Amino acid sequence: MPYRKATAIAHPNIAFIKYWGNRDDALRLPANPSLSMNLGDLVTTTTVAFAGELETDEVTIDGQPAGEAARSRASGHLDLVRDRAGLRGVPARVVSRNNFPIGAGIASSASGFAALTVAACAAVGLDLTERELSALARRGSGSASRSVPGGYTKWLMGQGNASSFAHSVAPADHWDLRDVVVVVSREHKAVGSSRGHGLAVSSPLQSARVAAVPAMLDVCKRVLLAHNLGAMGVLIEQDAVMMHAVMMTSRPALYYWTPETIAAIQAVQSWRAEGLPVYFTIDAGPNVHLICEAADVAEVEGRARTLPGVLDILVSCPGGPARLVEEHLF
Ligand code: DP6
Repeated sequence: MPYRKATAIAHPNIAFIKYWGNRDDALRLPANPSLSMNLGDLVTTTTVAFAGELETDEVTIDGQPAGEAARSRASGHLDLVRDRAGLRGVPARVVSRNNFPIGAGIASSASGFAALTVAACAAVGLDLTERELSALARRGSGSASRSVPGGYTKWLMGQGNASSFAHSVAPADHWDLRDVVVVVSREHKAVGSSRGHGLAVSSPLQSARVAAVPAMLDVCKRVLLAHNLGAMGVLIEQDAVMMHAVMMTSRPALYYWTPETIAAIQAVQSWRAEGLPVYFTIDAGPNVHLICEAADVAEVEGRARTLPGVLDILVSCPGGPARLVEEHLF
């Protein structure tokens, strides 16, 4: 029987309060809740069609057949959708395209698994709620749970699989923030997030971080809702550095920062001292995300271009939810 073809778009997100470490690696149940902003200018578009005539899942990303690791990760995720729909054994063709460079320090796994989840469920006719789609996307990549709802989103730890999903705390138009990504490295990271999450528990600092984060998140959410960048900025910087302290004190230790990362941190501090309201956050890599209001973005971007070792700058506004679109990629 022919199945419907479906296409979804999703945006990556930048976490203000980070996800690092799982209490259940297989289910991707996080050690702590997290809070993020979808990045509206950056988009992953994914078309899925289940097709009985294929031998196995076929996955194409940005015009190239996916490598075996990426293909089998996508296949494992499609199995969850197939199981739910009673279609085990029916392969799928997946074509996915990003409008942002892979390796620019933007986690394409968040938008990738959010778009894959929404498109695959629609392709098999599964009518899931946003919560169910978010919890399912989480199984592919933890941060993908936060790319399913729109705007500013919070991922709840939950009690178990069904209750660990993200929901919107404010829509994209709540606050016109910008993420100015300072790309200082395009190299593939030596240790990816999935492995890094497994190492978090080996740091003696992780338990302190996990104990502190829920209260930090509550305050961060409150000041985000009050448009208070000064209060929020202090928290997002502290949270990012706490996560990197855990990484650097894991066994083996993970050092994602390079001299260019530190130079950007120090520049942000001095720009602030000069009266420019801008704050940094850093994911599992050396690139630095500068968070500011739209009114200051030209100044922030101009200064960011003068930082040592800058290869590229990407700027994004807040973005909406993952959603179905009519135009297919094949
Ligand atoms: C540092 O969601 O990429 O960006 O579940 O293994 O795919 P997997 O991990 P991922 O981890 C994101 C880590 C982070 C912080 C964050 O986005 O919260």
